[in-house]
Amino acid sequence: MIGRRRCLFALLVLQLELVKALTGVPLNTNSRWIVNQQGKRVKLACVNWVAHLEPVVAEGLSDKPLHQISKGIKSMGFNCVRLTWPVLLVTNDSLASLTVRQSFQNLALTDSIAAIQANNPSIIDLTLIQAFQAVVKSMEDNDVMVILDNHVTQPGWCCNDNDDNGFFGDKYFKAELWLAFSMESAMW
Ligand SMILES: *[C@@H]1O[C@H](CO)[C@@H](O)[C@H](O)[C@H]1NC(C)=O
Repeated sequence: MIGRRRCLFALLVLQLELVKALTGVPLNTNSRWIVNQQGKRVKLACVNWVAHLEPVVAEGLSDKPLHQISKGIKSMGFNCVRLTWPVLLVTNDSLASLTVRQSFQNLALTDSIAAIQANNPSIIDLTLIQAFQAVVKSMEDNDVMVILDNHVTQPGWCCNDNDDNGFFGDKYFKAELWLAFSMESAMW
């Protein structure tokens, strides 16, 4: 279960590396509680939203307009999304600068291209990193908090014990790149 534990560890680290939302973020901890900037307790009610698979695009944009998905999450009573992404999205510029269209073309998923074009025409020609940012922005616009979950390094289904796609010590995880990225994001 090492791989899975590592994945969980990655998830926990990232959950602390919080992010965005309404008022009072980023969140902090106070003893066992999660609190906002005013020290008031915050309870997370999150849905999972997958963006770490091979296309590196949030799933479902082929089915509904982005804002409709965001509003749906909110209206179902959730206040947060655990948005998964592969580390390479931020450490590999040639991946991040592919457009959504190119990414699906590379996977020969032409039906998905047409469907995203129909439901999210403003997203189909964004780069992968811009499309990811558009999803985060849409959450923010709808008062939904986002936990950035660096679920895996290489895009793809997670996890097993020997996919080498977890965190430190795994083949595909490059600690130097991760540290370089963390230093960079600390300066944002
Ligand atoms: C970076 O992304 C490109 C495009 O997807 C890919 O061909 C390349 O193998 C990636 N590099 C690494 C180090 O994963």
